[in-house]
Amino acid sequence: MTEAWRPDDDEPRGASGPVRVRVPAKVNLHLGVGPLRRDGYHELNTVYHAISIYDELTARRGDTLTLTMEGEGTGELALDDSNLAIRAAHALAGYAGVMPHARLHLRKQIPLAGGLAGGSADAAAALVACDALWGTGLSRDELAGIAADLGSDVPFLIYGGTALGTGRGEAVSPVLARPTSWHWVLAFADGGLSTPQAYRELDRLRETGSAGAPLGSTDGLLAALRQRDPRVLAATLGNDLQDAALAMRPSLAATLKAGEAAGALAGVVSGSGPTCVFLTADAADAERVAAELEAAGVCRQARTAHGPVHGARVT
Ligand code: C5P
Repeated sequence: MTEAWRPDDDEPRGASGPVRVRVPAKVNLHLGVGPLRRDGYHELNTVYHAISIYDELTARRGDTLTLTMEGEGTGELALDDSNLAIRAAHALAGYAGVMPHARLHLRKQIPLAGGLAGGSADAAAALVACDALWGTGLSRDELAGIAADLGSDVPFLIYGGTALGTGRGEAVSPVLARPTSWHWVLAFADGGLSTPQAYRELDRLRETGSAGAPLGSTDGLLAALRQRDPRVLAATLGNDLQDAALAMRPSLAATLKAGEAAGALAGVVSGSGPTCVFLTADAADAERVAAELEAAGVCRQARTAHGPVHGARVT
């Protein structure tokens, strides 16, 4: 008689085959920047929104921790211990008390330093993928706790959807809105902008009295999200970092103007830029606006997207 196979303590936990995770880009529908704190961060009052432009991270078993990649930013993005996905794998292994062994491969569609939290997305994907690969079985909230130490935007990308971000952006609570899909166009720029530099530029503009009035409360935007009318939402989009991004990259003014001339309901700089994001009335309008932006030569590439979508998930 043959004995039934039983897992025992020697049997590795987790997945034996590859784990594939898809993670979205984020835009900020409202990015209210408060004063500079003593820890070097700014107090934020933001509404995050996850959109359907994705990076994909595959994790396989390995004898060490390695990262390879293809797609956006190949040849530019460091793949060593400074990479946020590698740092995320180390952080999870340290937290869970396992060896940080995995072969990670990234397929990137989110541009580097684009204001879409691409690096943060990869960190969130690495946490979710390694948790499944290693069988560490952490909850989303535990993963978000580890995520907060990796970057201000990383916890949001664990959850996705539409969410309020406070503190330096790491304290995330979901926004309950009607199940509406919004249609966006993203105008990718040539080259990135540095996030710390954009915050410094905003401080400088505020010191010299040349920044616009701060956005203040998210109430108007949150009320607009509860309605289904993109025209109402369009009137409430805003980003305190936009003045800084425009000062650093004046050509973005032409991109924003071209999107609105093409029929977008509103356009704003996404996060610290340089990506510009446009709200449109529907999917057909989004296609039209994207084509016109490309034809006008005011961006490297224009892509349509919808949101909200889920955060980092095993596919
Ligand atoms: O949190 P993260 O590492 O993504 O932030 C990158 C940089 O952006 C910070 O070092 C800081 O200069 C700036 N930042 C800020 N206030 C925030 C978030 C980021 O000044 N709330």
